[in-house]
Amino acid sequence: MDFELNNTQQELRTMVRKFAEEEITPTARENDVKERFPSEIIRKMAALGLLGGTVPKEFGGSAFDWISDAIIFEEIGRACSSVRTTLSVQVSLVEQVIFGWGNEEQKQKYLPQLCKGEIIGCFALTEPEAGSDAVSIKTLARPKGDGWVLNGAKTWITNGGVADVAVVFAQTGPSGGHKGIAAFLVEKGTPGFTSMEIKGKLGLRASNTAGLSFKECFVAGDALLGTVGEGFTIAMSALDNGRYGVAAGCVGIIQGCVDAGTRYARERKQFNRPIGSFQLVQDMISRMVVDLEAARLLVYRAGYLKNRGAPNTLETSVAKYFASEAAVRAANDAVQIHGAYGYSNAYPVERYLRDAKVATIYEGTSQIQKLIIGEHVLGIRAFT
Ligand code: CAA
Repeated sequence: MDFELNNTQQELRTMVRKFAEEEITPTARENDVKERFPSEIIRKMAALGLLGGTVPKEFGGSAFDWISDAIIFEEIGRACSSVRTTLSVQVSLVEQVIFGWGNEEQKQKYLPQLCKGEIIGCFALTEPEAGSDAVSIKTLARPKGDGWVLNGAKTWITNGGVADVAVVFAQTGPSGGHKGIAAFLVEKGTPGFTSMEIKGKLGLRASNTAGLSFKECFVAGDALLGTVGEGFTIAMSALDNGRYGVAAGCVGIIQGCVDAGTRYARERKQFNRPIGSFQLVQDMISRMVVDLEAARLLVYRAGYLKNRGAPNTLETSVAKYFASEAAVRAANDAVQIHGAYGYSNAYPVERYLRDAKVATIYEGTSQIQKLIIGEHVLGIRAFT
C-alpha cells in the first residue's frame, strides 16, 4: 500500500491550489451573497484542463487518474463549493455518462466541447415527486416517428439554467419500473424544453440550480443514450462517480475548516492567551483533523478502485456518507472556534457550513448511502 501522491499529483495539487486561491477565493463571498454564477471562473478552469476529468485525450479530455480528479475537487472545494459543484456535475456526471454510454458520434459531438468548457452540461434525474426514489420518475418519453416526445418536469438540477445539453432520464412505458427508463441528450433551445432558476438556497448560492420543463419536446432518435431500459443503470453508475466528486469536495471543505480554524485559534487571544491553547479548542481542531484524514483516505480508496476499473459502489457510498457528514461537523466546529465572527461572512466558515449541508442531501442523502451500504453488507434490500 502506497500512501504517497506521485510527483504529477503533487504538482497538480500545487497548481490547482494556487489557481483556487488566486482566482476563486477572492470572489467567493461576493458571488455567494449575490447568488452569482461565476462563468468566468469556469472558463479559466477549462483553460487549465480542469474540466477534462478522466476522459481520454482523443475526446478532448485530460486523462487524469481518479486520485488526481479527487485532488482537483478537494482544492476547488476548499475555495468554493459552488464552483466545485458546477465542475462535479460537468465532469463526474455528464462527461462520464457520455463517455461510458454514448456511441462514437455522441462522444465526438459532445465530449471535446464539454472538456474544453465550450458547453455546459447538466444531469436531470430528480423530479418534484421523485428524489430518493429515483425509479419513480414520471417524465415520459413517447416514441414518435424516428424520435421521442418528452413531457415532464425535473427539479433541483445543478447547472440546469446554464446548460447547453442536459442528460434527461425518462420513462418510456406506462408500466413504470427501472427497466423502462431511458436517458436522452437534450440540447438547449429544443422547442418545448425550458428552465427556471431556483434562488434562495441555504448554500451553494453561486451555483446554478434550476427546474426543467419538457412540454411536447421532440428529440431525434440519435438523442437516445445507450438503449431503452439502460437508463436507470446509467443514472446509478453515474452517481457512483458523482458521489465520489462530492466526497472529494467535502474533503476540501474539511481542509478549509482546519486551515481557517487553526489560523484563527493561533491569532485570537482571550484570557491573555491564544484560544488555541485551550483544551476545548484543541479538541475541536483535533476532531476536524481526524475527520479530514479519514475522509481523504476513504475517497482515495474509492479512487484506487476506480483506477483499477473495480466495483466501487460500496466504497464510494462509504466515502460520500462519511465525508459529507464530517464536513458538516468540521464546519460547525470551525464556526464555533470563530465565535461571533464565525457567525458572519467576514470569515469563510459560515459558508463552509451552509455549503457542506447539501452534500448530505444531494446525489443521494446520507440515509440513502446508509441503505446502499447496508444492502451491500447484509445482502438484504431495504426497499422490497
Ligand atoms: N451501478 C450500476 N447499476 C446499478 C447500481 C449502480 N451503482 N445501483 C443499482 N443498479 C441497477 C441494479 O443492478 C438494478 O438493475 P437490474 O435489475 O438489472 O439488476 C437496477 O439498477 C435497480 O436497482 P435497485 O433495485 O437497487 O433500485 P432501487 O429502486 O431499489 O433504488 C436506490 C436504489 C439506491 C435507492 C436509488 O434509487 C438511489 O440511489 N436513490 C438516490 C437517487 C439520487 O442519488 N438522486 C440524486 C440525483 S442527482 C442530484 O442530486 C442533483 C444534481 O444536479 C446532480
